[in-house]
Amino acid sequence: KPQVFTTVQDFRAALSEFVRHHSALKPTVGLVPTMGALHSGHAALIDAARADSDIVLASIFVNPLQFDDDADYRHYPRDLDSDLELLGAHGVDLVFAPDVQEMYPGFPEAPQVSVTAGAMGRLWEGASRPGHFDGVATVVTKLFAIMKPPAPSRFHAWFGEKDAEQVAIIRRMTTDLNLPVTIRSLPIVRDDQGLALSSRNQRLSPEDYEAALHLSRALFTLRERAAAGEPLRVDEVTAQLNQAEGVDLDYLVVVDPQTLQEIEPAQEPEGATAASGPLASEALVLIAARVGPVRLIDNMLLTPA
Ligand code: PAJ
Repeated sequence: KPQVFTTVQDFRAALSEFVRHHSALKPTVGLVPTMGALHSGHAALIDAARADSDIVLASIFVNPLQFDDDADYRHYPRDLDSDLELLGAHGVDLVFAPDVQEMYPGFPEAPQVSVTAGAMGRLWEGASRPGHFDGVATVVTKLFAIMKPPAPSRFHAWFGEKDAEQVAIIRRMTTDLNLPVTIRSLPIVRDDQGLALSSRNQRLSPEDYEAALHLSRALFTLRERAAAGEPLRVDEVTAQLNQAEGVDLDYLVVVDPQTLQEIEPAQEPEGATAASGPLASEALVLIAARVGPVRLIDNMLLTPA
């Protein structure tokens, strides 16, 4: 099992020691922030960090600031022992697993000073979950400050493209605030039917699971159309999802991968839009739907022909 620290002070002391005694003079340190309840999607992220880094750090912290629903926060799965087992098996060196008082001493009072994701943080998932991305931006900034290795190490932080808006916002935050870290990302890990892995999938019944597959199938259809230079016909895909049994669609949108803004109607050819006509440049499709007891999100990068 990896070494686990619950206080900022102990973690930082151990990290300094670890870096000082490491054989690499300028080690690359990879950080994988998580909320625990780890599955193979998290494991793939850790493996990618492990392959790229001399030292791998992980955090486990269920961040109350990013939950817009108190019951969701209280019921979020927590299983530190099996998480540590997985982290150890995948070669993580040091784990930071603070309790809520360590991260937010005044909790349940919100911190006085915090980070906002701005207008970007109110798009799509941010619109459906008010405050969510501000909470993510705040905790990720704190984790970077706490877990940054001493000079002259290189510091990389790893995020999954499963949460496409989260990665886009964290990249933008890192640029806007000049945070001394390089953001790395890993493509979505899917099961053999195409469903994006998520801890929430455990709660899907066999019928829900079949319904959930409509989401990734819709994304694969759009990707094929984009690659073939065909019109995307997003409206048609949306209509099919609205008719699909067991799927309560929240949104299906084609956005700019960096700004997350919905792609504006193209000027040429006359009348065609990004959503109805062929794709002109790289775009991201975001989808969210309620299936059975859970809300699922997925996305796909579209590359034009
Ligand atoms: P959590 O949901 O635990 O996810 C931790 C990381 O695993 C995130 O970067 C997420 O995108 C990635 N991940 C989850 N499922 C994945 C999949 N199927 N394929 C690829 N990557 C996957 O995301 C968070 O925690 C929190 O918001 C956090 C960044 C830790 C801040 O609290």
